[in-house]
Amino acid sequence: MSTQDLLVFDNVSFSYNEDDENPSFAVKDVSFSVRKGEFLVILGHNGSGKSTLAKLSNAIFIPTTGKVFVNGMDTSLPENEIPVRKNVGVVFQNPDNQIVSSIVEEDVAFGPENLAVDPKEIRIRVDEALKAVGMYERRFSETHRLSGGQKQRVAIAGIIAMRPGCIVLDEPTAMLDPKGRADVLNTIRALNKDHGISVVLITHFMEEAVYADRVLVIDQARIRAVGKPREIFSQREMLKECGLELPDTAKLCDKLRDRGIGIRDDILTEEELIAEIIKRSGK
Ligand SMILES: Nc1ncnc2c1ncn2[C@@H]1O[C@H](COP(=O)(O)OP(=O)(O)OP(=O)(O)O)[C@@H](O)[C@H]1O
Ligand SMILES: [Mg+2]
Repeated sequence: MSTQDLLVFDNVSFSYNEDDENPSFAVKDVSFSVRKGEFLVILGHNGSGKSTLAKLSNAIFIPTTGKVFVNGMDTSLPENEIPVRKNVGVVFQNPDNQIVSSIVEEDVAFGPENLAVDPKEIRIRVDEALKAVGMYERRFSETHRLSGGQKQRVAIAGIIAMRPGCIVLDEPTAMLDPKGRADVLNTIRALNKDHGISVVLITHFMEEAVYADRVLVIDQARIRAVGKPREIFSQREMLKECGLELPDTAKLCDKLRDRGIGIRDDILTEEELIAEIIKRSGK
């Protein structure tokens, strides 16, 4: 781990009641870093500290002890607040709380306007950001007419327009229907793969973790496990102890095996399952 990584948590603890005699910690002794271009998924049960981590990542919260660095900048220094927020954007769960303007393109322009970006440059960035999330055709639409998934994609565009190196999304699909979830997830994957933006996706949907470069499991404020999705999802006891399940595809494979169908036990994605079924039915 180097402080020059895009986002670094160095032994970070955070307490909401640090002045109490016996403070409790929402985040405890957490160290990890996000590399350039990485897709990191954070999994954790309710109350494990995920949203607190998100808010620590761009100076909304400052660690009680330890340090968070963004591009080498210490988030606890007041002079770093704006450059930190330019580099790490956070998208929250409820799209309605993140939309500030009545027209889509005005909403996306809001972030760069606050950063005093040149108006001509803002025009370019807004169009680019709306194209990146598949909402360019709706740029003149009224925001209140959009579906939850569309609103969430506009919120993501608002972050992208600030050109961050890293985007942290705190359960961005939790309030969406399956179509909205799929659209938002595909958008996030494309931003990572095609635009090289580092992604930290916080979720409690296990299926969303299977495409990650790395998965980090947090349990009761601490990191419990870090690894590739396949390594994490093979640790079934650990997941159970943390109150987490298996991805739907892996659950389906378990059921098939229960019925005596000897399917491989390392399948995680739908694509892998389909390939396995085709292989078996081809004899
Ligand atoms: N504003 C607050 N004041 C006091 N305690 C808080 C506050 N926000 C969160 N907590 C506590 O900190 C711990 C971690 O909360 P956090 O919201 O970070 O968890 P989470 O993993 O995001 O949970 P969820 O799955 O419900 O979103 C919990 O015990 C929670 O009750
Ligand atoms: Mg949360």
